[in-house]
Amino acid sequence: MGPAERIVDWLRTAATPLSGEELARRLGCSRAAVWKHIAALRQGGYEIRGRPSVGYTLGTVPDRLGPAELAPHLAGSWRHVEWRAVVDSTQNLARDLARDGAPEGTIVIAESQTAGRGRLGRQWHSPAGCNLYCSLVLRPPLPPIAVPTFALVVGLAVADAVQALLGARAALKWPNDVLLDGRKVAGILTELDAEIERVRYVIVGIGVNVNTEAFPADLATRATSLRLAAGHPVDRARFTGGLLAALEARYRRFLADGFAAMRPEWEASAALTGKEVRVTAPEGEVSGRVVGVDDDGALRLAGPRGELRVVAGEVHSTRDFVSGRGSERE
Ligand code: BTN
Repeated sequence: MGPAERIVDWLRTAATPLSGEELARRLGCSRAAVWKHIAALRQGGYEIRGRPSVGYTLGTVPDRLGPAELAPHLAGSWRHVEWRAVVDSTQNLARDLARDGAPEGTIVIAESQTAGRGRLGRQWHSPAGCNLYCSLVLRPPLPPIAVPTFALVVGLAVADAVQALLGARAALKWPNDVLLDGRKVAGILTELDAEIERVRYVIVGIGVNVNTEAFPADLATRATSLRLAAGHPVDRARFTGGLLAALEARYRRFLADGFAAMRPEWEASAALTGKEVRVTAPEGEVSGRVVGVDDDGALRLAGPRGELRVVAGEVHSTRDFVSGRGSERE
């Protein structure tokens, strides 16, 4: 944390006002320097009240997901937050940081993205200041073949965080969509850099529609937000802290026990079990009834000529195909 963030942290946890002198002592700088930090914080939307010969107290904080705003909500060991107001994609920034040696657990968050991306080359709708756009650098000691199952585990973590917030379980649509009331509330994108036997790093990208109130026309019938589901605005920083803690807990369990240990939970949360679907897979189109997932993360379908396994592709419920909603943007 930088000096301004440390001031916020101290003011937030102080039982009594903190004087400029005390803040200067803690930071090891002059009172004039403290005053400059306070002025910059006020400029950035922090309400900091100062009373002569009493000290400073903290009022409202801005709705932002920077290190200072997230600090009180981070519960696990992942605490290094790289925050930007705008990026092209948090995936790109996280990848650049990973290439430069960023440690496991580095969190990249932006308030908006100009080129947010989803799976299969789609764009991710990324308006400013209302949602969560986050990419996490992980360095799992695993072969690349294990990474697709980890993507399913991330879905479980998002569902855990949504459940903690709303008390309702989100549904998981294979491989990476998180749905509320049948509409997409979050998407997950995992990208990796690996040798044949060893992952160098995985970038786990998570986009959550937190406080979006209205979606563009082409998304309006297929997307939702936590706010729309809850019926009131959601505290983004608190939700993000909960999500990161859920993710870290799931990740540790995944490294210890593998996806197989969580497969029943994934299947219990699955959106399309028992439904007839079509899957656009790299090798062509297949259809069948969803049975579940395998320990390696493959989707299991009961097809007309027996059971099928799908390792990659896009699932459409037959209903979506009939109404021609195959070209999702999100
Ligand atoms: C999908 O459902 O297709 C995956 C969407 C992933 C979106 C997130 S937002 C944060 C991160 N940065 C990106 O550019 N994409 C991911």
